[in-house]
Parts: sequence; C-alpha cells; structure tokens
Amino acid sequence: MTLLELEGVTASYGPVQVLGGVSLSVPDGGAVGILGANGAGKTTTLRAISGTVRTGGRIVYDGRDIRGMRPDRVAALGIAHVPEGRGTLGALTVHENLRVGAYLRKDRKGIATDIDYCLALFPQLQNRIRSNGSALSGGEQQMLAIARAFMSRPRLLLLDEASLGLAPGTAKSVYEAIRRLRKESGIAMLVVEQNANLAFSLVDSATVLETGRTVLTGSSAELKGMDEIRRAYLGG
Ligand SMILES: Nc1ncnc2c1ncn2[C@@H]1O[C@H](COP(=O)(O)OP(=O)(O)OP(=O)(O)O)[C@@H](O)[C@H]1O
Ligand SMILES: [Mg+2]
Repeated sequence: MTLLELEGVTASYGPVQVLGGVSLSVPDGGAVGILGANGAGKTTTLRAISGTVRTGGRIVYDGRDIRGMRPDRVAALGIAHVPEGRGTLGALTVHENLRVGAYLRKDRKGIATDIDYCLALFPQLQNRIRSNGSALSGGEQQMLAIARAFMSRPRLLLLDEASLGLAPGTAKSVYEAIRRLRKESGIAMLVVEQNANLAFSLVDSATVLETGRTVLTGSSAELKGMDEIRRAYLGG
C-alpha cells in the first residue's frame, strides 16, 4: 500500500518558485531516498509535505490530500519531520526534549517505555539525559532529534541530512540506529541524504531531483548500477 504520494508538486518562497514538479511515492513501511545536488529542492520537498512552504500539485497521505494543511495538523496525522540542522530545543534537557516529542500523546506508560527504547537505541543519550540540548555534540543532537521525532510515534519520518557535519564514524552509527529503528518499528521513511552510500544502506528506492523536478526514480540496486549515479553520488 502507498502511504505517501507526491504528484507534480510545486513550491515557492514568496514569488520564487523552486519546485517545478516533484513526484514520488513512499510505500507503507518503506524507505525512500531523495538525491540531488545542493539547491535541487530536497529540503523544500520535505517542507512541502510537512506544510511549511507554499505548495501546488497533489500530496496524498494515507488516502487524503494534505497539501496546504497546517504543520501541526500534518504532524497530528503521523508525519514527523527531523529538519536540516536538527531543531532540538537547546534550553531543554534531553529528557524534556523527548517529552516534547510526545506532547500529543496521553499514554503515560507508553511514553515511559518509548523513552527507554530511545535510550537503548542511542546509549550516548542515556549519560546526557539531564544535559541541555545545547550542551550536546553534533552527533548527540542528531540522535536526540531522531529520538524526539520517534516519541510522537509517527507512521512516516521525514529525515533531512542526518549525517551533515558528523565525523564518518558517528554518521555511520547514526544510520545503524536508523536502520534498527526502521526494522523494529516499521515506520516509513523519506530520507534526504548527501552521502549516497549511507542513503543506500537504508533505503529501498530513491528519486533524483534536478532543479526542483524529479528526473529519475528507481530501486537502490538499479540506481547503484547506473554510471551517472555512481559518478555524481558514489564517488566513482
Ligand atoms: N527560505 C528560503 N527562502 C528563499 N529561497 C529558499 C529558501 N530555502 C531554500 N531556498 C531556495 O530554494 C532552492 C531549493 O533549496 P533546498 O534547500 O530545497 O535545496 P536542497 O536540495 O535541500 O539543497 P542542500 O543540498 O544545499 O540542502 C534553492 O535555490 C534555495 O536557494
Ligand atoms: Mg537541504
């Protein structure tokens, strides 16, 4: 079953249109990557879904058109966005950030269980549980941003550049945790990632954007076998 479908999606910042026609689909429980050069519109595509940029075209989630819906309503439908730059709350502790992620939930026991799960998934956060978000390393902030998104118990996770600015080893362990989360929770994922090797370690398929348009979609295996993809994204 298709969970999310974008068809001819356009988006503008003020008078400037930056997406001219993005089409992609995410199966329920699937993981799909978005590849593209700097400025191609990857981040804007995620913003179009989460309702934080003005959009046209069709965005259908779980059978309903969510295009133009307010960000809080989109979130309430089960779409969690881990934005570029992480967006953790620096003045709140790790524990408070996790609780904020669960703000729409009423199941206190479930929330406590899920906080424990996050700390098992990211053991580094366990030692930092009373630290402010602003005192965390870049890698720890990324882990917290993902954990906080998980705390809303989404059906779809939008993940923007989770490896950006991290040391290679840290980026790898963040992706290992995301793979585990995917396997154990079945959350569908739409993943923007500059590091295509990391992206392909997680996603089943990917779509390539060029100047705001979808130019190519294929399975991870198909894309990895294409010369132009290898040259542009896989360093050879
Ligand atoms: N808030 C904004 N206001 C105006 N223009 C913007 C804004 N954010 C992005 N843009 C422009 O929209 C286009 C697409 O940007 P976007 O951030 O979606 O690209 P991206 O593929 O995520 O790039 P990167 O790999 O650098 O993160 C770019 O030309 C960018 O300059
Ligand atoms: Mg971006």
